[in-house]
Amino acid sequence: MPALTALDSWNQLTRHRDATAKTELRALFDGDPGRFASLSARLDLGTSGELLVDYSKQRVTAETLDLLVRLAKERGVDARIAAMFTGQKINTTEKRAVLHVALRNLSSRAVVVDGVDVMPLVRRALEHVRRASHAVRSGLHRGYTGKRITDVVNIGIGGSDLGPLMVTEALRPYQIGGPRVHFVSNVDGTHIVEALGDLDPETTLFLVASKTFTTQETLENARTARAWFLDRAIDAAHIKRHFFALSTNTKEVSAFGIDPENMFVFWDWVGGRYSLWSSIGLSIAMACGFDRFEELLHGAHLVDDHFHREPLETNIPVILGLLGVWNTNFLGAASHAVLPYDQYLHRLPAYLQQADMESNGKSVTLGGERVGWDTGPVLFGEPGTNGQHAFYQLIHQGTRLVPCDFLVAARSHNPVGRHHRLLLANALAQSEALMRGKTEEEARAELEAQGLSQEATRELAPHKVFTGNRPSTTFLYDRLDPRTLGALIALYEHRVMVMGGIWDINSFDQWGVELGKQLATRIVGELEPSAPVSQHDSSTAGLIDEVRRRNA
Ligand code: F6P
Repeated sequence: MPALTALDSWNQLTRHRDATAKTELRALFDGDPGRFASLSARLDLGTSGELLVDYSKQRVTAETLDLLVRLAKERGVDARIAAMFTGQKINTTEKRAVLHVALRNLSSRAVVVDGVDVMPLVRRALEHVRRASHAVRSGLHRGYTGKRITDVVNIGIGGSDLGPLMVTEALRPYQIGGPRVHFVSNVDGTHIVEALGDLDPETTLFLVASKTFTTQETLENARTARAWFLDRAIDAAHIKRHFFALSTNTKEVSAFGIDPENMFVFWDWVGGRYSLWSSIGLSIAMACGFDRFEELLHGAHLVDDHFHREPLETNIPVILGLLGVWNTNFLGAASHAVLPYDQYLHRLPAYLQQADMESNGKSVTLGGERVGWDTGPVLFGEPGTNGQHAFYQLIHQGTRLVPCDFLVAARSHNPVGRHHRLLLANALAQSEALMRGKTEEEARAELEAQGLSQEATRELAPHKVFTGNRPSTTFLYDRLDPRTLGALIALYEHRVMVMGGIWDINSFDQWGVELGKQLATRIVGELEPSAPVSQHDSSTAGLIDEVRRRNA
């Protein structure tokens, strides 16, 4: 594949960026009353209303978008999308297909991997989730003393934790009549000890969620949970009613002592960070009911269909991905803030950190060459309005450009007092402030109107200036329901893929997590007081020594 920077469209974009460097968003809005209408898109979510994506506050014009679409074409983004949907092994370093879209394929379309239609397998696994979630919610499946299951603890990490955790938090209003769900991920013993604190082994069900079933943190937490359970239940035969496995690895699941009948399967073509739609979503179905889980899949399926069929010019995830490339590679943004003005989405930034940064935090091309352009930005965020009182100062007046996403629900699940109107007003005001800014003249006029002396005005005015011209996208939806949430997540997933496609990197492997794991395996033995210590740099050796001394 030719280097990205050698493409015609890339060079045209560079020239276009230079030629428009002085054009401010404020002027673009003043000069075109139709800008919002022409630079926003709507996705029909059926019974959940419309999802509006307003990207008119991005630093682009129609010409920028034309050139970006040309870049996508030159880069073969459409062929890459087709390759994903048709089960080609686009995760080349692991020689795997990438088919989370099959997990939410509610159509009758076959999805073929290695000559086999995987859809019957997907439907069977989904049916397993349906039956188990119904059994637990209805009281058909009970604990070893005949009591109902009141608490479900999902033990997993990364994609086996963040997705279900984020979704169950987001769908709290839909958690009616099911067990309480808890999530344990960290190997820090505090996490599991605190989680088990108030639970009763007779009424607790553990879901050990791990694609590989070899992840150190998850297995350690699962062993601790098993010991805690057996401390009361005594008889290992009771494990069957209290431990389910969500995994692709039958051998390791059996070795751990979980009955293969209680294993909820998925496949190697489901990436960990794309797995909440698979059996990994069992905790979601248990908490909210299977119908809600299916609605989540439905929302994602609507976006998949759009992504698969829509021309690049009007394809929303493609546009979002191209805007990400524009901000990263042409405007020099090194980060991306995700700002949900929706408390239920408080874990969305954490979830998207894995989805985006584990996918696009790469620096070699598919061909193994070092990239000559920037790739994935640092993603961060907090719910509004909390972030406004913390890090927004830097976004408004710092020296760095931080493109922002605002996620806003038109209607609240909790319409108390003036809260929701205030929340909405803040979201809209923030994106307006970032775009417009405040000129020095405006700052001076304001200070003078407040009665400040000329000298005080001169001193203070520079500090009150907002450069503006800071890009953002706003996602506006009716109310956060399962379908809307599914659609939002799928938009972000596909956006990541588009960006990875342009950058010619593999968005579906994660070799960067290996080295730390290897070294930890070595160091864990060396922390034993009398164990020999291998060769380390003086800092690591000094710290090992210090830890050993303090624990002696
Ligand atoms: O170490 C990173 C990672 O492999 C993630 O990609 C994955 O989501 C997480 O670990 C957990 O892996 P598993 O589900 O196999 O336990």
